[in-house]
Amino acid sequence: MADPRRVAVLISGRGSNLRALIDGADGYEVVLVAANKPQAAGLDWARSRGLPTWTWDSKGLSREAFDEALDQVLEDHGIGTIALAGYMRLLSAPFIAKWRGRIVNIHPSLLPAYRGLDTHSRVLAAGETRTGCTVHLVTEELDSGRILGSATVEIEPGDTPATLEARVLAAEHRLYPAALSKFVRK
Ligand code: GRF
Repeated sequence: MADPRRVAVLISGRGSNLRALIDGADGYEVVLVAANKPQAAGLDWARSRGLPTWTWDSKGLSREAFDEALDQVLEDHGIGTIALAGYMRLLSAPFIAKWRGRIVNIHPSLLPAYRGLDTHSRVLAAGETRTGCTVHLVTEELDSGRILGSATVEIEPGDTPATLEARVLAAEHRLYPAALSKFVRK
């Protein structure tokens, strides 16, 4: 079994959590950044830091075909833990089965509440007084695996989805490296 401290981060976009994971690395090392969108901004940043990157445009590809290629790259790099950070593509069942217990994700709500997309709008529409973010294991069921850590963010009067997103994102950047660090030491 590969060393759990050898981490691959999977992204699709801006990659602010990727940065937080790299800057806050403690007890683990990000040894690969992979993206399913070649134009993901986080890739440029990773390259500028001299990190190995891999990308393949997943558009039009079957889930299985893409995940088989991804799996091979992860094996080639001796990856022990996969951290999803704004990775906007569902993983195939065989991939999840193979990597079971070794894939983590961060979600911008206090799970199990508000699984799925558009969490901040839904939280505000429901009149919640608090929300937050959660790091959890990835299973076949969306945003439902074992919770590894969470952080609470108070909702303030006048909050919009954008202001809330910014404060939750700041909390994500503190939570994710800490939760991953704890996870790889388990
Ligand atoms: C974050 O809010 C994360 O919780 C969600 O997608 C967003 C990714 O942002 N899964 P970034 O690419 O890490 O900046």
